Amino acid sequence: MSDSTPSHGLTGVARTLLTPLYARAHAAELLPSAGLDDPVAARLLDEAGHTGSEVLADRGNTLGSIHRTIAFDILTRRFAREHPEGTVVSAGIGLCTRAHRLADEVPDTLRWAGVDRPEVIELRRGLLPGERTRLHPASLADPDWADTLVTGPDADPGPVLVLAEGVLMYLEPGELTSFLDVCRRAFGPGTEVVADYFHPRIALSDRHPIVKATGARFRSGARDGNRLARFAPGWELAAEYGIMERISPLHRAAGLLFRTVTLGSRPYAVARLRATA
Ligand SMILES: C[S@@+](CC[C@H](N)C(=O)[O-])C[C@H]1O[C@@H](n2cnc3c(N)ncnc32)[C@H](O)[C@@H]1O
Repeated sequence: MSDSTPSHGLTGVARTLLTPLYARAHAAELLPSAGLDDPVAARLLDEAGHTGSEVLADRGNTLGSIHRTIAFDILTRRFAREHPEGTVVSAGIGLCTRAHRLADEVPDTLRWAGVDRPEVIELRRGLLPGERTRLHPASLADPDWADTLVTGPDADPGPVLVLAEGVLMYLEPGELTSFLDVCRRAFGPGTEVVADYFHPRIALSDRHPIVKATGARFRSGARDGNRLARFAPGWELAAEYGIMERISPLHRAAGLLFRTVTLGSRPYAVARLRATA
C-alpha cells in the first residue's frame, strides 16, 4: 500500500487505531523476548493503508503499545480461564487482533464482541470478513451503545470483561462516567473493565505526540486507578499495572520522577476496575 494513501478516509480519533496496529505488527522484531507474534496485525497494517506521519512509529510509543497489549492479553487469558463462557467486549476495538492472536489459547466457548464508530466497524468488516467477533457500530459516548450486546442473540452475554485499550482518554469526563454507568447497568455486578489512562497533567496538556499525528485530542485523565473508578458510582479498583516503567530504564526513571513530583501518581497505567453493584 502506498505510503501516501490516506487511511481509508479515517480522521481524528479513528486514525489512532493505526498506532497499536503498527506496534503489534512489529512486536516480534522489536521485542522478541515478549513472544508476541501477530501476523494478522501485520497483514491488516499493510492492507489498511496509512501515511507514515499518522502512525507513531517511534520506539518509545511502539514499545509502550506492545507492553500494553501484553498486559491486556494476560488479563484476557485470565478471564477466559475463570469464565470460559463469558464475553470479552472490546470497547473501541479498532483493528485489534486479540481474538485472532489468542484463538489457540482460550476456549472456543469464549465470546468476543467489539464496539467502535461506524466508519471503523465498516473498515474492519472489509478487512476481516467472517470473523467470529460480533461487531457493533456505536459511539461509546452514547447512553445506548451496549443495547445491541444484551438484546437479540447476545441476550445473555454471561460474565463480561470490557477491554478499553487506548480509548478512555478520548472521552470527555461526562462521557467516561456514562461509559462506566452503561457497563455496570448492561452487564451487571462483577463486570470488569480493563483500561489504560493518563494522569490529567499528561492527558490535558495536548502535547502527546498522537495528538499531533492524528488530530485526535485527549479529553480526560485520572490521578490513579482509584480516581478512575470514582468517575461513576458502583466501581472499585481491583488492580493496577505500570506500563511506562517497562519500556526502558529512561522511561522508568521519568516515571519515578513523575511519582515524586505528584506525590505518588503514575503518568500512565492500566487499571482493572470491578463493578460492585
Ligand atoms: C488508539 S485506538 C485503539 C484501538 C484498539 N483498542 C487497539 O488497541 O488496537 C482507539 C480506538 O477507539 C475508538 N474510539 C474512540 N472514541 C470512541 C467513541 N466515542 N466511540 C467508539 N469508539 C471510539 C477509535 O475509533 C479507535 O478505533
